[in-house]
Amino acid sequence: MAKITKLEDIVSLCKRRGFIFQSSEIYGGLASCYDYGPLGVELKNNVRKAWWKSIVQTREDVVGLDCSILMHPLVWKSSGHVDEFADLVVECRACNTRTRVDHLATGEAAAEHTEHVALDAAAAAARDLSETACPNCGRKGDFTEPMPFKLMFETRMGANVEDSMVVYLRPETAQGIFANFANVLATTRVKIPFGIAQIGKSFRNEVTTKAFIFRTREFEQAELEFFVKPGTDEAWWRTWKQLRYNWYADLGIKKENLRLREHADDELAHYAKACVDIEYKFPFGSGDWQELEGIANRTDYDLRQHQRGMRTVNRWIENDRDLAGIELASEAEDYESGPLSYFDESEKKRYIPYVIEPSAGIDRSTLAFLVDAYDEEQVRGETRNLLRFHPDLAPVKVAVFPLVRKDGMPEKARAVYDSLKRHFTCFYDEKGAVGRRYRRQDEAGTPFCITIDGQTDRDDTVTVRERDSMEQVRVTTERLLEYFRDRMEV
Ligand code: GAP
Repeated sequence: MAKITKLEDIVSLCKRRGFIFQSSEIYGGLASCYDYGPLGVELKNNVRKAWWKSIVQTREDVVGLDCSILMHPLVWKSSGHVDEFADLVVECRACNTRTRVDHLATGEAAAEHTEHVALDAAAAAARDLSETACPNCGRKGDFTEPMPFKLMFETRMGANVEDSMVVYLRPETAQGIFANFANVLATTRVKIPFGIAQIGKSFRNEVTTKAFIFRTREFEQAELEFFVKPGTDEAWWRTWKQLRYNWYADLGIKKENLRLREHADDELAHYAKACVDIEYKFPFGSGDWQELEGIANRTDYDLRQHQRGMRTVNRWIENDRDLAGIELASEAEDYESGPLSYFDESEKKRYIPYVIEPSAGIDRSTLAFLVDAYDEEQVRGETRNLLRFHPDLAPVKVAVFPLVRKDGMPEKARAVYDSLKRHFTCFYDEKGAVGRRYRRQDEAGTPFCITIDGQTDRDDTVTVRERDSMEQVRVTTERLLEYFRDRMEV
């Protein structure tokens, strides 16, 4: 069984079969931005749907939200992004290429995929780069002093120059959830413990973006903020760690490619009490364990920060709606009963809940599902390439073919296609030899193909061919819907 071993193989498969294209390719491309093609958009939608179903639709204790990408600038001051969300970079004096210090410091190929590290940790790692070679031109130790490189994209809002203000493209979806915490409390019947979930685009002006859709400047996140009573946070963190690991495994990721890795204390973000990454063994270099999702215990940090932010609004208005030079207001002494607190009826008291945050990347998990599903095998002297997607993720569930384009077979095949397409994503194809059509669907990851042949006219049965085993069985047309529902549990 061959396996994709190089990133280039994935990129080429994605391009060839219409999963993922470079953005703006006709103009030479835009670095680190990608477009999903006809099969890719179905796959990515299915990843989103699977997450939403597992996190929101099948749980009574989670509600959904869809917030705007542009938010009040004070949101990002309060969250810490305006001041803290930066990578420490150095510039090579010979070739002017900027590189993240934490990527240079370890000198390992794997390091270039690591997530952002705190500025002070990066600074500590930068102490001696005199023997370090520039990854672009190879010149040793000829770097500028380390400097912070801000990761948020900035733009201006407002038509008139004099009253326009700086706003940011959100770098995470989480803050929209915290900013709506009070709205959700006021309009629903949620009681702690409960969660608010959101899927949406986020933007980061990443320094290192080499690995296809693994790290891009525009990407999609799926985040859950699960609010709990302080003191119950550690147990909930363990629960979500297991639930999220199971989600990937249940959708077919092989257990040998999946692991949990807890952050060491010096790796933790400033707001986190604990964090565990779900990692996938991506085929970069010699095979790297890389983060798919982080599950953090964010404590009561965010809601408390936003209470401070709410107390800063007047100061910001007086400063001409400019964040430069203003500090967040101090925390109120009675912050535990502030506007973002929760009244616990059973305890008869107010407090700021703790938050457990499973934060996943939709594009990054789509890449992992693609890589993990890819397989090659030899069949009668030919290489068969296939994507062994879980049926919930497969872009097309059922392909329908007439064996030949005559004897009423196309009409019969169309009728079968029309009856099934209301229930599953189907694909109709009548061109070329049927063996070739099977192979094309194998490569698209379609779990089932139906062929209408000469026998269909006599006994109303069709051939159903299964992707993974290539086994063929005959099923009557009237049983097809039930057959696929049973086999795919959809
Ligand atoms: N709210 C917490 C948060 O944003 P993060 O570890 O920075 O945490 C969570 O991001 C997830 O979002 C990552 O595990 C990854 O799957 C995805 N992600 C982050 N940056 C990304 C990027 N530049 N490109 C693609 N996915 C990214």
